[in-house]
Amino acid sequence: SLRCSCVSGLSGVDDAHVFISSGENVRLSCNNALPDCTSTTWIYNRFSHSETVELIRLGIKKKNTESYERLSLGSDCSLNIKNITKEDYGFYICQQYVNDQQQGTDARVFLHVLHVSSSSSSSSQTEISAGRSVTLFCQLYSYERVSCDDWIRSERINLFWVNQAGDKLTRSDSRYQISAPDHCISSLTTTLLNEDHNREWRCNITQRNQLKTSATYTVKISGEKTILSESFRPS
Ligand SMILES: *[C@@H]1O[C@H](CO)[C@@H](O)[C@H](O)[C@H]1NC(C)=O
Ligand SMILES: *[C@@H]1O[C@H](CO)[C@@H](O)[C@H](O)[C@H]1NC(C)=O
Repeated sequence: SLRCSCVSGLSGVDDAHVFISSGENVRLSCNNALPDCTSTTWIYNRFSHSETVELIRLGIKKKNTESYERLSLGSDCSLNIKNITKEDYGFYICQQYVNDQQQGTDARVFLHVLHVSSSSSSSSQTEISAGRSVTLFCQLYSYERVSCDDWIRSERINLFWVNQAGDKLTRSDSRYQISAPDHCISSLTTTLLNEDHNREWRCNITQRNQLKTSATYTVKISGEKTILSESFRPS
């Protein structure tokens, strides 16, 4: 599913900002491509002082990159990345070279990855008994990570938890403790109830009140603790 290609020129004239959640597929467009992708090179920087990695060189995928198996070049020279991980965030640049000479300007895409994790497991799904407390973390991974807080505020980006109906959870709901140490991360702590089995906990990100993407985390309640958990149910 291609949820969002959300291209909008924000920081530079031709810069695109794409928001995606981990596990999804994304297509990064190359707006300077020449008709034939044999001149197309895609390079990548995770953050400003990281090493530049060449992903595609003159239309050919480079071996030995972290994302090699998940990458492909579209017929319009766009970069397709499957099954996004939180490590894929960063700055992608599409360039055209003919006889070693760069043609035109860089096409720049910032990829921002939304990811939910839990205090008790590193996978996107965790098994825990009812009556136990769990903390989920929703984090935006960005090139601007060091100054993510400033950037996210200046771009009027909001990251928040929603309930199963899709409405924003508020701090006034006593079942949840929501804490946001900065604008790029939000944690939700709750005591699990039996009926939370298989529930998807969802975190959304909006920009100027427009939904950009959302990420989920599924909690499974392990069977044996059913009797114990009954006493936690509000009657
Ligand atoms: C996507 O990546 C995760 C690890 O990041 C892996 O566990 C999962 O199997 C992958 N899914 C697909 C469809 O390849
Ligand atoms: C949160 O995202 C979900 C899934 O995309 C959507 O159905 C819901 O309306 C969103 N809620 C808000 C308040 O953005």
